[in-house]
Amino acid sequence: MFLSRALLSTLAATLIAASSAERYNEIKIRDDAIHNSELKSPLPHSYIELGSLPDSFSWADVDGSSYLTHSLNQHVPQYCGSCWAHGSISSLADRIKIARGAQGDDINLSIQFVLNCGSETAGSCHGGYHTSTYEFIKSTGYIPYDTCQPYIACSKESTDGFCSHVDTTCSAGGTCKTCDTFAGMGGACTEIDYFPNATVAEYGLIDFDEDNIEGTCHKIMAEIFARGPVAATINAEPIVKYAGGVYTETGHPTETNHIVAIVGWGACPKTGKKYWIVRNSWGQYWGEMGYMRLEMGKNLLGIEGEIAWATPGSFTVMNFPCYENGENCVKQQEYLDPSMDIVSMQRRLKAHNDAERKNIRG
Ligand SMILES: *[C@@H]1O[C@H](CO)[C@@H](O)[C@H](O)[C@H]1NC(C)=O
Ligand SMILES: *[C@@H]1O[C@H](CO)[C@@H](O)[C@H](O)[C@H]1NC(C)=O
Repeated sequence: MFLSRALLSTLAATLIAASSAERYNEIKIRDDAIHNSELKSPLPHSYIELGSLPDSFSWADVDGSSYLTHSLNQHVPQYCGSCWAHGSISSLADRIKIARGAQGDDINLSIQFVLNCGSETAGSCHGGYHTSTYEFIKSTGYIPYDTCQPYIACSKESTDGFCSHVDTTCSAGGTCKTCDTFAGMGGACTEIDYFPNATVAEYGLIDFDEDNIEGTCHKIMAEIFARGPVAATINAEPIVKYAGGVYTETGHPTETNHIVAIVGWGACPKTGKKYWIVRNSWGQYWGEMGYMRLEMGKNLLGIEGEIAWATPGSFTVMNFPCYENGENCVKQQEYLDPSMDIVSMQRRLKAHNDAERKNIRG
């Protein structure tokens, strides 16, 4: 059998790529990003003392109930660098679950909507930032629940997998939609304009003080304990082969390229050494069922450097009941009174009279 030169070089390139796949930096921060909203509520560390916080605390088990929403996987159906959306939006969803006392079906928020509509502000499959996600949701005024816009791991610049064949534009249908029946039976997909959604009330970035990491950890623990999980940056390089246990390796860079969520902390029974309980978005087959534990207090892998939090504003608990085909949930066209735009009216009058004159002459 004979292999062409071109085929051989493609094969070689594939082998090299497979052995040393490069990690993509999924953290992209806009120059004009606003990392803190206006704050109306006091920050939890201002009213919870470090010494009064428990040795271990996790939203996975508070008096026997879990307040965590489902584990996610940003990398399927095809690779997408949307960690920033997963870490920040899952933490926001957890906080809604906490507010609801873990009652009822979990409210899962649409990450795909943020990819469709926030690609210039929050991020895309090629990176983004946690505070920018909260900034985007706050300024847009809503994030739909994901039953009307499920995750497909594509944004408008993606070419991997099926992404070049799907529509990820920020249209009304790219926000929320429904499909009524098979196209062959006369069905169609339409936008839904009135949909269950959640909002962001306040958000911020916890100050990192290199000379007082204990103080920084106090702020992070108080925030988690009082209000719920937070989003955190991390250097993902050393954890791609993490296989369980408390990660304690020092000496790795604290420059970060990935975003995760911190849902609580624990302490080793023998040593008393504290660790963060971190939820990743690489599927439940990674780490400890999708989670990892990482030693606290040393800014290991940059975990304590850029912690973002957000509080939910309102969230829909009673939906407006849409018909299956959505016809009663599509906005009415607004009446535009011609008297409100006199310039256009005069232009139209002139054009009409000009045409008329031309007709007479012709
Ligand atoms: C949210 O996701 C969880 C886990 O997949 C699921 O059990 C729950 O029903 C979802 N909620 C809704 C309203 O779809
Ligand atoms: C968001 O939900 C609220 C009710 O929780 C509703 O009043 C509002 O119209 C919804 N927004 C959209 C854009 O559907």
